[in-house]
Parts: sequence; structure tokens; C-alpha cells
Amino acid sequence: PQEGFSFREGLLHAEGVPIDRIAEQVGTPFYLYSSSAMEAAYQRFTAALTGLNAKVFYAMKANSNQAVVRSFAEWGAGSDVVSEGELRRALAAGVPGNRIVFAGVGKTQREMAFALEAGILQFNVESLPELEQLNQVALSMGRKAPVALRVNPNVDAQTHTKIATGRKADKFGIDLDHARTLYRDAQVMKGIAVEGLAVHIGSQLTRMEPFRDAFQRTADFYREMQAAGVPLLRLDLGGGLGVPYHHDQAPDLQRYAEIVKETTAGLGAELAFEPGRYLVASAGLLVTRVVFVKEERGRRFIIVDGAMNDLIRPTLYEAWHNIIPLRQADSGAELTPCDVVGPVCESGDFFAKERDLPPLKSGDLLALCDAGAYGSAMASNYNSRPLVPEVMVRGDEMAVVRPRQDYATMIAQDRLPGWLPALHN
Ligand code: LLP
Repeated sequence: PQEGFSFREGLLHAEGVPIDRIAEQVGTPFYLYSSSAMEAAYQRFTAALTGLNAKVFYAMKANSNQAVVRSFAEWGAGSDVVSEGELRRALAAGVPGNRIVFAGVGKTQREMAFALEAGILQFNVESLPELEQLNQVALSMGRKAPVALRVNPNVDAQTHTKIATGRKADKFGIDLDHARTLYRDAQVMKGIAVEGLAVHIGSQLTRMEPFRDAFQRTADFYREMQAAGVPLLRLDLGGGLGVPYHHDQAPDLQRYAEIVKETTAGLGAELAFEPGRYLVASAGLLVTRVVFVKEERGRRFIIVDGAMNDLIRPTLYEAWHNIIPLRQADSGAELTPCDVVGPVCESGDFFAKERDLPPLKSGDLLALCDAGAYGSAMASNYNSRPLVPEVMVRGDEMAVVRPRQDYATMIAQDRLPGWLPALHN
């Protein structure tokens, strides 16, 4: 299957560790990450950018586990954060403030102040009200906020509509026309240091033309602003490079890098990248156990112990995740179309519909592939299901990098109002 995971004697391993043994130890469901696969993806990404003056800021929204964020920091990446929570997680994982960029359309005053205090490298600003508020907050602290304006180049990323961000109707970014004015405004704001230009048109891009269009328009705009005397230092090209979940066209990293080189040639800018999914998606699995096999109305439902609250991508984006039994099926095994579903009380709680799978029975273990990005990070307690553990493997070693949330902790998050009588029994 994916890099970092392989069958040995018919049993799926994460690097050197048999996965059924991990399941015995932590129970199911759980997320499982290959540290080496993450590192390999990071090395591929940075190698493709060789020769460019480029910095990589791992978009930690994809997977914000401390072990993951720290690993990327170890390997040399900074962090792209979108909230005070992510900023705190990055700092806690040891990412220095000056290797952090802060994106997002709705930063609050409190978040701005916290980020200024942390000395972050760059705020990616998406509107005039945000710019004005950031200026005020910085002035009140006697600081200057380093700013890049995020533009919306009006390019359709040709990805799922919920994760496209560079079209006119999307809430993200500033129109180029408007950005011209904002750069002028920003330069006279005493609390703002204009340093960069940023773009990000969406996620899970598998075709390279939208990148080319967006980078070309943004680089042209960078040149224009430079010529107009805006003291730009940095061009942030965002994230968005996809991974082959299915027989999606596998996105071509080399092509991506060539497009970057062609469109930014001669700019003299430092380049910034914010990859999330590319670095972690294929380095992770969600391991789940079959609870029941239910045959009804001519359909076969494989009911597993993982659910939409653990991995919401299939129902939210109609996303495809390969599903493989941890014990390799016989080569002659007959495949039957199955609906792989969880126990949550919604028809939207499914991992796959009419997926051809070999014979399965209660107790069998399954892996949902390519679940390292936007899996655990988007999990919730819906149906009062505790958050599942996360395990990281490196070579023959494994580490539980987040234990299973226990019921008491989950329940103790709530408080009773004073008007309810205490329970006496
Ligand atoms: N930079 C910015 C400004 C972003 O908004 C994003 C993702 C990234 C970087 C990282 O993009 P990546 O390299 O991971 O494509 N939950 C969705 C994906 C949402 C992406 C949001 N922004 C999913 O599961 O497909």
C-alpha cells in the first residue's frame, strides 16, 4: 500500500511493527503514523525545491499532534498556523516564533496580541478591517506586525468545492485591485511592516494548471508592487499539493516545482510554502475493527468501530480512502461490494459505499489508508465517542503519541448549573 506500510507474511506492518500487535495494545480504532514516511515526504518536497530560496511551513491543521509538529521542526520546517490554539501547539512543540506564519480570515485581537508576543515571522492578512485591527494591536504593544497580504487570484483549483479557496465567491484573500490600495494603506500604518505577498487557492490539487495560473498572476502582481516601491521580501505560495487517494492523477511534485521556478524566476523573493496534506496524508492509517457484518435488502454492510466522528472526510467531501484488511486476503478471494459504515446514528456515517472487498467477519481488522491528514485533526466527540489514540512508529519502535480519551475526562468537560440539585445516592 503506502510508503511506510507493507505486508510481511501476509500481515500489514507499519515500518517494522506488525499492526495487529499495536491494536492489541491500544485497542481500536486508532490512528497510526509512520514517522519515516513523513520524513520521506518532507525530504521529497524540499529536494524538489533545491536551488530556490525557499522555506517550508508545515500546515499543522492537517495533523496537529505534538509528535508530528515536533518531527517536522526537527527536520527543519516551520509551522503555518490558523488559530491561537495552533500557535500554542507549535510553540509547545518547540517551533521558534520566527518560523511561524499565521493565516486565516478571522484573527481576533487576542490572537493577534498573542502572536505578536510570540514574535511570529508573518501575518497573512486577508482584509482591510483585519489590517486596521492588527495595526492597532501592534501600536498598543509598541510593535510592528510583519504582514503579507493574501490575494485571491480568481483561479478555480479544480478540487472539491468545499476546499477550493481561490475563486471570486470564496471568503478568502483580497482581490488584486483591492490589494493595490491595501499595500498603499499598509505602508503608512505605523504598526505594520509590509513584507510579503501570499496566495493559496485550495487543497487536494491534482492538476497543475491552476497552480500555474495562480502563481503566474501572483508573481506578476509581486513584480508590479515591487516596481511601485512596496518593500516586498517574501512570496508565500501556500499549500494545496494533493496526494493520490484513488486513481486520482497522482500530483506531479517535479512539475509543481518547475512551475514555481518558471513563474517566480528573477523575482528575488524568498519563497514560502505551506504544505499540509502532502507531508502527512499517506503517512497515516486509521485502523478499525469489524463489529458486525450485516446483510439486508441485498446489501452487505461492514459495520466497524470507527466512525464519521473519527474520520469525517468520506461524508464531508465524498472522499475516497482505500480500505485494506490487515491480514492480506488470498489472491483468489472473491470481492463483494460492501458499504463500510460506523456505529454513529446518521446515514452519513460511512467510510465507503459499494466498495469491493474480500470476505470479512466480525473481529477482522481494517486499515483506512491515507488518513494522516485531516483525520485526527478533524475528529470530534459526536455520539459521545471518545477521541481515539494516535500511535507513531519509527523503525521497530512505536510510541502512543496520544492516548485514548477516557470517558471520565470526556464527561468532566461539562458542568452542571447551580439550579440543578445534586444527585444524592
Ligand atoms: N495554507 C492555507 C492558507 C490553507 O488554507 C491550507 C489548507 C493549507 C495551507 C494547507 O493545505 P494542504 O497542503 O493541506 O492542501 N479538511 C480538508 C482540507 C482543508 C484545507 C484547508 N486549508 C480535507 O480534509 O480535505
